[in-house]
This record gives sequence, structure tokens and C-alpha cells, in this order.
Amino acid sequence: MYRDRLPLFPDTVALRPDKNGQPALHVGGRDLNELAAEFGTPLYIYDQHTIDSAVQAYQDALGRHYSGPAGITYAGKASLNLAMARLMAAHGLLVDCTGVGELHIARTAGVPRAQILLHGVNKSWPDLQAGFAQAGTLVVDNLPELARIAQLAHARGPAPSLWLRVRPGYAVDTHQFRQTGQLDSKFGMDADECVDAVAFCQRNELPVTGLHFHQGSHFHAAEEVLPALDTVCELMGRLQQELDWWPQALSPGGGWGIAYHEKDLPHQSIEEYVATVAAALARNLSSFSLPLPRLQVEPGRSLVARAGVAIYQVGTVKRAGGRRWLLLDGGMADNIRPALYEARYSALPVTDPLGRLPLSENAWLAGPYCESGDLLIEDLPLPDIELGELLAVPVSGAYQLMMASNYNGALRPAVVMLRDGDAHLAQRRETVDDLLLRDIV
Ligand code: LLP
Repeated sequence: MYRDRLPLFPDTVALRPDKNGQPALHVGGRDLNELAAEFGTPLYIYDQHTIDSAVQAYQDALGRHYSGPAGITYAGKASLNLAMARLMAAHGLLVDCTGVGELHIARTAGVPRAQILLHGVNKSWPDLQAGFAQAGTLVVDNLPELARIAQLAHARGPAPSLWLRVRPGYAVDTHQFRQTGQLDSKFGMDADECVDAVAFCQRNELPVTGLHFHQGSHFHAAEEVLPALDTVCELMGRLQQELDWWPQALSPGGGWGIAYHEKDLPHQSIEEYVATVAAALARNLSSFSLPLPRLQVEPGRSLVARAGVAIYQVGTVKRAGGRRWLLLDGGMADNIRPALYEARYSALPVTDPLGRLPLSENAWLAGPYCESGDLLIEDLPLPDIELGELLAVPVSGAYQLMMASNYNGALRPAVVMLRDGDAHLAQRRETVDDLLLRDIV
């Protein structure tokens, strides 16, 4: 009945008998009931195999479709902790950090300096100082920031490699809160400012080596990158002509979307996205007899979202005004995305997920927090769900825990990494004492 929801789950999803002989959802070789019993709920699990194969899909596609050098930067803002930073670094990816906080995580994880890239639209002095100390690449958002970088370079010695963030004037089709490439966006520099920035770097002997643009996050048609790519290639021609400067690296940012709900399937593949970008870049640059720049894609969500599953326990079933409410032990404090972007998720019960017929009344899944906006999933066909049952919400690996809060004193959930039947606690659940850590007694 709900079989079309299974592809939303990690690659290793399987139905196997639980200890009572009932079919139960398994991920990474582990029964989700047992993981919930061991680590508590709400629980976030990540299937490493699914992350590994998404990385491989990008690597294969770049190798197959781009004849120049190429690489991947992982946008750490999607999901970053020590285990994730180590995993991405072990795959040879650059790790994109926003500001001093994420830099601290990456460095503590042991990510080598050469693999750390610093982003940020209004970097503070501490961000920039940490960038100088810890990052191999720094993406410059604006001219005042570049002046501060020159000051730091003067005072402390060589700057990391600098890439300039271009504002191409085109956003992708996504929720407006996630659009970044449009003309009036707060991010990046227009073409004239980029020319000024390269000239400034040349005058001040700053190592400017790349261009970067990012039009927004969670788009679904690869062609949407093309107008921006054309604009940036035009800018390259201008920089070449006016300043005799050519980038060693070009990053078209991230933003490739995924399916969150069975209605979003099928979805264009990572390979189709990379192939479209690579072909357009090569086409645009074919008239220049200059080397193809390193194509550095910068995905976050499409590497980690489907690897993650959130497991909640149903504490209350209520009927109100004709609506069936399933009240869970987590919600907007660990996943603000439905409230912020009207994000639409799906779910399955962990026990006998496919064998039970839906009730005629759809279910409304909400959390325990004190507002009606704490609504996780609206109007979802589900069978009769008993008190104490576990529900698994797929595609929970990106931008959920990273935007989590302690609203109503909520404790951030534990995070477990799964690999070949092993479950490794990557982050423990917060305790009530954690809530007092910053208070001065
Ligand atoms: N590069 C830059 C400069 C970015 O700002 C972002 C995301 C990415 C790469 C990665 O984009 P991705 O491949 O993950 O789509 N909180 C929102 C998403 C905000 C994305 C911010 N920037 C959400 O939950 O949908």
C-alpha cells in the first residue's frame, strides 16, 4: 500500500521480522525498533552507505562529463558534526564552513586546512581570523570584506586562496527564503564589483584564484543553472580581457534538490544535473584557448538528506473537529522546515509499515510544542496507529538538526551513524543540564 514511500528511505532500507516476527523497517542492517529502544526518541539516524553512494554519484558524473579537473565541496550547513566532517574529509571532499563555529567543528574533526573552505555573507573579524588560521580557501562575499582581508594579510601574512562570490542575477525556482542568486539578493557581488575585486587583489598581491556563485537551494531542473553560468562565463571573458586574469576554479555552488515525498518522485538524478552543468561550462568556454577551470560543485542536501531518518514515538492520538491527530515526541524544535518553508514530508510506521490499510481519515502529525505551527506532516494517509508506536520520517538528514532549537526546553535528539550493522552514537541527546550551560549562576 505505501510501497511508493520506500524509495525515500536510505539505500539500505529493508523489511525484516522484528523480535515478535512482525515485519519492521530496518536501515543499515539495524531494526529501527531496537535503535529507538537503545538510544531513545526522537532519534536521528544516518546511513553511511547512502552518503557514500551520493558522493560516488557526484564523483562518477564529474569524471564522466567534465574533461577538466573537478571536485566536490560538502556544504556543511546541511549537517555537520565531528563524524560527518571526518566522513566527508575521508572521501577527499572540501568541507564548506560558515563562520568560526563550523570551522571549529571541522578543525576539531581533523579536516586538513587544504580541505576547508570558508563561506559567509557578513564575516566577522573572528570569522576572518579563523579563516586565515584554518581554511585553505575563503569565498569573498563583498568589497568591504576584501578590504578587511587585505588588512589581515598585511598584519598576519599570506591569505588563503580567495574565490569571489558572484551575484549572477538569476535565482533558481525554490522557496523564496532559499533564493540567493537574484539581482537584489544580499549575497555576492555583481560583475562590476567582481572586476574591481580582482583588480584590488592584483594591486594588493592577494591570491585570488576562483569564482563562485550559488543561486539558491533545492531546485529540481538542472537547466536552471544555465543563465547564471552564461553570465559568469561572460564575466570570465571580461576579466581575461581587462585584467588578464583567468580563474583556476569555478564553483556553481550547490542547491541540487531531492524528493521529500512520494509525490516528488521520480526526480532527476545527480548525474543529469552534473552533466548539464559540465556541458554548458565546456560549451561556454570553448572559444577561449585557456585551460578549463576546476569545476567545484558544492552540494549539501543531495549528499546527506536521504541518508537521514527521524524516528518519533506517538504519545497521543486525538480526534478534533474531524481531524485525526498523531502527537509525537518531536516536531518543530528538531525540524522547523515545515513551519519555515511549508516543506512536505512523508512517514511510515516502523512496525508492519506496508501491511495495514489506511484509515479513511488521514493523519496530521504534530509535535509537543506550544503552538499550532508545530505541525510536522499534514493530511497523510496512514493506517490505524496505536499509542507508543514508532513513526519513521525519511529524508531527514539535511537542515533539520542544524536548525534545531531548545524551544519549550526541547532537548536536541541523539544522532546515530549506521554502517554495515554497526550503530555508532555520533552525538548524544541533550540533557536538561545542557540547557543551563550558558547561564551564570
Ligand atoms: N553553497 C552555498 C553558498 C549555500 O549557501 C548552500 C546552502 C549550499 C552550497 C548548499 O545547498 P544545498 O545543496 O544543500 O541545497 N535551510 C534551507 C536550506 C538553506 C540552504 C542554504 N545554503 C532548507 O532547509 O531547505
